[in-house]
Amino acid sequence: MVDVLIRNVHTPNHTDPVDIAVSGARIEQVAPQIEAPARQTVDGAGRLAIPPFVDAHFHLDSVLTRVPNSSGTLREGIDNWARYKQETLTEEDVYERAKRYCTHAFSMGIQAIRSHVDVCDPQLRGARALTQLKADLSDRIDIQLVAFPQDGYYSAPAVKKQLLAALDMGVDVVGGIPHNEPMYQQGSDSLHELMQIAQERGLLVDVHCDESDDPNSRHVETLSALTDRLGMSGRVTASHITATAVMDRYYVSRKLIPMMVSAGIHVICNPLINIHLGGHFSYPRHRAMAPIKELLAAGITVACAQDCNEDPWYPLGNADMTEVARMGAHIGHMMGLDALRTMFDTVTGYPATIMQLPGYGLEVGCRANLVLMNAASVIDAMRISAPRDVIIRDGNVVIDSSAH
Ligand code: FE2
Repeated sequence: MVDVLIRNVHTPNHTDPVDIAVSGARIEQVAPQIEAPARQTVDGAGRLAIPPFVDAHFHLDSVLTRVPNSSGTLREGIDNWARYKQETLTEEDVYERAKRYCTHAFSMGIQAIRSHVDVCDPQLRGARALTQLKADLSDRIDIQLVAFPQDGYYSAPAVKKQLLAALDMGVDVVGGIPHNEPMYQQGSDSLHELMQIAQERGLLVDVHCDESDDPNSRHVETLSALTDRLGMSGRVTASHITATAVMDRYYVSRKLIPMMVSAGIHVICNPLINIHLGGHFSYPRHRAMAPIKELLAAGITVACAQDCNEDPWYPLGNADMTEVARMGAHIGHMMGLDALRTMFDTVTGYPATIMQLPGYGLEVGCRANLVLMNAASVIDAMRISAPRDVIIRDGNVVIDSSAH
């Protein structure tokens, strides 16, 4: 007797129909026509079964604030967020907005979110609200939090203390923003300090790194060198790295990417946000996204993520990771059929690897977290932003829009 039997689905790896048997919170069997009695049967009706979407770069503390940004620049976003923090932000406000967003994200098939949380606030209102939310929503979404010094690690003497306090409170990952420090050297110094903190505490690192249109920004290089030196391969992520789109091509291809490969660092691109925030000051306009095709070809694990949803940086967004993958495919020239299938991996398996999510996937023994999409293939799912008809979390059928 199994607990849930999902009949007649195809998966990214099984084009012929299979059944999926779930016992407790684990996948017990994936095979054609499983003959086992089941407490509950779900008719897959030939739909696409996938492991849940993973959004590995997001900002839950600013989500749904709907603060307008008339210039559409990163700078105005940071300034408007600073004003919001000063005038409006409360712990309850963060909790309520983030919970509302996560509830919607779950219905869109997302079951893991890595969210940065601003630790430049002396009261750590965001960190308090989101560590609570992380616990309260653990039966729906795995929330991983990053201590993020939005205004700069050296923007105030207390920021270091606040960052450590956030980590003590249960924030999981060490963040940074070296390109936003006033001097280049301070950006570099901040990386040395932050990596040291992560190494001492055995934590992962995810840095907003070289998120600018400055072709001379060199913090990814420093982050790679430190990852190598400190033996932190596989535990460090460079987020955004949009400056790599305008750097000298010899430098990127002959020095930087090989350094990133040998260091074993991961990359997260945010195609929706960065195509909008970047490239304001150049003509012809360039593509403000890391060269995803070259990074993937070199063997780097690359995720695409949403970053923002109706906040001071981005007025749109709908927790739709197929939209993220689709935009990434356009900007990154990833339209070959294999490349498109890889783009689907950038919003599912690859970010799961980056977040080190245990038991992620559709193999036997994995957590029984699944989404059934009304799509003929993963490419079709991205093409039409296919409906998420059935959502299963730890073996529980939480949403079944086909059930009556
Ligand atoms: Fe971000």
